[in-house]
Amino acid sequence: MSKERVSRRQFLSYTLTGVGGFMAAGMLMPMVRFAVDPVLKAEAGGDFIPTPKKVSEITKEPVRVDFKFKQKDAWYESEVTETAWVYKDDNGKIIALSPVCKHLGCTVNWNTDKEHPDQFFCPCHYGRYTKDGTNVPNTPPLAPLDVYPYKEKDGYLYLGKAKPRKEA
Ligand code: FES
Repeated sequence: MSKERVSRRQFLSYTLTGVGGFMAAGMLMPMVRFAVDPVLKAEAGGDFIPTPKKVSEITKEPVRVDFKFKQKDAWYESEVTETAWVYKDDNGKIIALSPVCKHLGCTVNWNTDKEHPDQFFCPCHYGRYTKDGTNVPNTPPLAPLDVYPYKEKDGYLYLGKAKPRKEA
């Protein structure tokens, strides 16, 4: 029985090994995560979320399209609803614009300012954008509306993550 007892030296050695391993893992984990994260991010960036909008129903008139997806923050999963203003331009190309005003983040609407028809209008500080999402000079927003990448699948519109428009 006394042979199986852990000596003081062994106990110290086990404890130090355990603590050392724990600290090493603590230092290595961020490095591994740092190395792997871009791969995961790239995958997430390629995600397109289905919307209830049929591509064949999209006209030249911007319409509001709401779509939902599940978002995971650490261990908490929630359902997020996002919105896009969607229409086809004169060449038949689909344009999907973020409704988030580039001034202070209010929600812009289409064609609700009677004095400036056929524009996106932000009621918070009277920000305006032309149909293609370009901010109207001398109104508060300093940048164009973000643009959603899109694709068509089974006749439905899928949207990616809205990105700032590249400057021409
Ligand atoms: S938040 Fe849109 S104009 Fe200020």
